[in-house]
Amino acid sequence: MRGEKTFSFFLLLFFILISQTTATNYPINVWPKPTTFHWPNPKSIFLSSNFTISHPYHRYLTPAVDRYRHLILSEHHRPIITPAINLTSSIPLQSLIISVSDVTSPLAHGVNESYSLSTPSGGSSAYITAGTVWGAMRGLETFSQLVYGNPTRVAAGVYIHDLPIFTHRGVVLDTSRNFYGVDHLLRLIKAMSMNKLNVFHWHITDSHSFPLVIPSEPKLAGKGAYSNEMMYSPADVQKIVQYGMEHGVRVLPEIDMPGNQNL
Ligand SMILES: *[C@@H]1O[C@H](CO)[C@@H](O)[C@H](O)[C@H]1NC(C)=O
Ligand SMILES: *[C@@H]1O[C@H](CO)[C@@H](O)[C@H](O)[C@H]1NC(C)=O
Ligand SMILES: *[C@@H]1O[C@H](CO)[C@@H](O)[C@H](O)[C@H]1NC(C)=O
Repeated sequence: MRGEKTFSFFLLLFFILISQTTATNYPINVWPKPTTFHWPNPKSIFLSSNFTISHPYHRYLTPAVDRYRHLILSEHHRPIITPAINLTSSIPLQSLIISVSDVTSPLAHGVNESYSLSTPSGGSSAYITAGTVWGAMRGLETFSQLVYGNPTRVAAGVYIHDLPIFTHRGVVLDTSRNFYGVDHLLRLIKAMSMNKLNVFHWHITDSHSFPLVIPSEPKLAGKGAYSNEMMYSPADVQKIVQYGMEHGVRVLPEIDMPGNQNL
């Protein structure tokens, strides 16, 4: 009993400390918390109905930009507590301009994911500058979290600089013990990107079931999958990997052979 009380006391102390160190008085908070968040004079600005995002063309960044532009213009997110901020008298925000210094860096372990984001308190453009397209995607996620309401408003006069503390931020999912359909995996990847996680460790197969179709060895899935419906075709895998790239999530496959017993 005494141990429990001491434990409760420290837990309470912990939460008090946490709530004090993370307390901000900002009317909008970004998740995960950026390393630098300056919003000296909280106001909002209307978003133009013909809002555009300019960016360098890139196989994976371009679909991400299209997705975020659609989300930003159509979501009309209503926060539980409406931010108590006044509108600027400025013209609506016309554009978000993304610049990337190196568009060739692949989504590899330790890739530079830093970005800076500023929204104007007066002008017509917001800016994201990033070292790589992957950093630009994190910046887009942050920008989308600054947008709310109907008609749509954006937090004005914000400056953010952000970079991850951990290079590997992942989720493991075992589809051998429990099969999950392709749509479920895509939904997981989408949720990961909203939380700026970057590695989907896909434990595809094991001794429990072998849902991965390998065309040169058809018996593996043929005899190893739980059923004919519970398999991933090469096209499914390609779709999952591509969806991951468009969300800044690297798919790390783990293929264990049937009968493998880990000690
Ligand atoms: C649409 O964008 C153009 C600039 O590209 C701007 O001049 C115009 O005012 C915008 N229209 C609206 C309704 O915001
Ligand atoms: C909004 O503007 C009104 C009128 O100028 C002012 O009284 C109020 O304090 C402002 N609210 C905030 C949150 O700045
Ligand atoms: C990441 O990219 C930014 C922007 O280009 C740059 O300022 C920073 O130095 C880079 N970080 C590392 C660790 O290379």
